[in-house]
Parts: sequence; C-alpha cells; structure tokens
Amino acid sequence: MKQSSECVVIKGVGSYVPERVLTNDDLSTMMDTSDEWIRTRTGIRERRIAADYEATSDLCARAAQLALEDAKIGAADIDLIILGTLSPDMLIPATAMFVQRKLGMEGIPCFDFGAACSGFQYGLEIARTMLLSPQYKNILLICGDKLSSIIDWQDRSTCILFADGAGAVVLSREPAGQPGVIDVLLGSNGEHSDILNIPAGGSREPASERTIRERKHYLRMDGREVFRLAVQKMGESMGKILERNNLTINEISHVVTHQANVRIMHAIAERLRIPMEKVCITLDKFGNTSASSIILAIDHHRRQGIISPGELILTGGFGAGLTWGAAIIRL
Ligand code: UT7
Repeated sequence: MKQSSECVVIKGVGSYVPERVLTNDDLSTMMDTSDEWIRTRTGIRERRIAADYEATSDLCARAAQLALEDAKIGAADIDLIILGTLSPDMLIPATAMFVQRKLGMEGIPCFDFGAACSGFQYGLEIARTMLLSPQYKNILLICGDKLSSIIDWQDRSTCILFADGAGAVVLSREPAGQPGVIDVLLGSNGEHSDILNIPAGGSREPASERTIRERKHYLRMDGREVFRLAVQKMGESMGKILERNNLTINEISHVVTHQANVRIMHAIAERLRIPMEKVCITLDKFGNTSASSIILAIDHHRRQGIISPGELILTGGFGAGLTWGAAIIRL
C-alpha cells in the first residue's frame, strides 16, 4: 500500500454468541458464589455458553458470515483468513482451516495467531501490514473462543468470568481518505507468562493421566496480578496511541476496551479521564469472551445505533502473555 494514497477500511463487522444463557444465579446453584459477588466484583450478570456440539470454528464461521454480509462482499472476494483464538478446535490444524471449509473458501491462505485477549489489536496489525502487499485486497479477521471448554468449572475465581463468542471484521485496501484503521500500538512481556496460562497439554507437559488428575489442562490465573497489569499496560498503550496521533480524549466518541472486568474499565477511565458515558460495555451480558469481546462490543453498540459510521473509536486490549495493545479506528 502506498502510504498516502491508500488506507485500510473496516468494510464489515459481525459477531455471534451462542443461545444458551448462564446467569450468575445459575452459577450460584453450581458452586459457592453469588450474584452479588460476581456483579460487584466484575460487572457480569450473565454470559453465553456454547452447546456441546459447537466448537470455536462454528462460532467463528457464524460471525464471519455476518461480517461478510455486512461488508456486502462474497466469500470469493476474500484473499486471506486470520483467526485469533486460545481455544482452538484441535491443536492441529489451525482453526482458520475449519472456518475456511465451512464458508467454502478453499484455496486461500489462512492461519491462526495466539495473542489471547489482545487478539483484536494484534489481528488488526497483522491484517494492516499484510494489506501492504498487492497480493491481498480483502482480509477476514476473526477472533473467537469457546472458553467454556478450557475453564476449570471447579475454580470459582475463573469460571464466573469467561464465556463463549466470536467476532469478525472484513478489512480492505481502499483509496486514502476513507474511515478505517488509523493506528495500532502493540506490546508484550513474556516475564508474565505464568500469571495466566494452561500449564499442560503442550510440549512442556504433554497430556498424561497425572496432568489430567492435577487439572492442568484448564486455564489458571492470578486474577489480582492480571488486574494490576491490565490497568497499567492497557492504560499506558491507550494514552500513548492518543498522544502519537495528536488526539485528546475529547475527540474520541467511544472507548471499547477488552471486556474483562468493569472495575478495570473504571480504573482506565479514571486514569485517562474518560467520561464513563463514552465507554462501551457488553460484559454484563456476555462476560469475558477473550479476543472477540471488543468486536462484540463494537457490533452490539453499532447495531443499537450508539456507535455511528465515521465516529472515532479508541480500543484497548490485554491478555495472556502478557500481551497488550491499543487501536484507533473509524467504522
Ligand atoms: O481476559 C483475561 C483477563 N483476566 C482478567 O482481567 C481478570 C482480572 N482480575 C479480576 O477481574 C479479579 O481479580 C477477579 C474478579 C478475578 C477477582 O476479584 P478480586 O477482587 O481480585 O478478588 P480476590 O481474588 O482478591 O478474592 C477475594 C475473595 C477471596 O476470599 P478471601 O480469601 O478474601 O476469603 C476469594 O476466595 O473472594 C473470594 N472469591 C469468591 N467469592 C465468591 C473468589 N471468587 C469468588 C466467587 N464467588 N466467584
């Protein structure tokens, strides 16, 4: 892409959550917790849980179809699929392959990437830089997870947070001067890899009777530390991206952060002096759906007429790794 004569446009957005609703009251019949604790500590009221027969690729394919419809382009016009997930259908092959098959898009390249809950920002940057190549004109970026399949339903500190869902965007190279992806800023620090991970099932500790007995195939998290670093790193990156684009929060219409905990959102808003009316929240309905949470929130608010075309949106994400990122976009 020639720097000044072309830009990356978000042509379509789509999202999908499974039908089954699991409320806080439902959870309190399954374990020692309460609606009051979950609401006041996280902001979550209910979440969606996929059916047994639904895998991550099924959720992703539904979201992708809706994004294609929204973009008004056919599957045949997509040149590349990139998919961010931490709950792949299988370890091999990439979940993007299953989505490709479901959508009948055989032949084009597709791959998964692992940036956990910062997947939206990482995916935007991968797509944006790949659109520099004349080989790609339209890229389908999908983020989706069936987190209910990797959380420990005996661990009340994590299983009340995470949920299932998928989001997709169609990104296209177009002549400059149109709304789209304005800037993306990414960061990570592997020193924090132990505060949020799934210890077993990979090459470090292959699956065995012992690892299963020790419940090491489930997600483990040091919630307090993740909370602290989320506020610090996401706050820093969102502040930096505003600064390097000579923007103030007054010029931003909507702020969409990773939907992990409403207290994290309040802390970020306080730090960056963002009025809470600008902060989009879907966490109460959908819980933490990892990388898809930002796309879900954008799509939900857009379909309700709260986000209008052309408005400036600031996004911020953080997740296992630790990864973090921020992006400024216009739909
Ligand atoms: O997308 C990835 C990102 N992940 C996150 O963003 C998570 C960030 N962290 C958090 O959101 C919060 O740390 C949590 C919501 C996970 C936990 O909230 P907290 O205010 O940090 O609580 P805590 O872990 O300090 O636990 C406080 C108390 C403990 O009891 P004691 O030791 O004070 O007696 C926990 O055992 O709350 C207890 N507790 C619960 N009680 C009722 C933990 N989970 C529950 C629960 N229901 N579900």
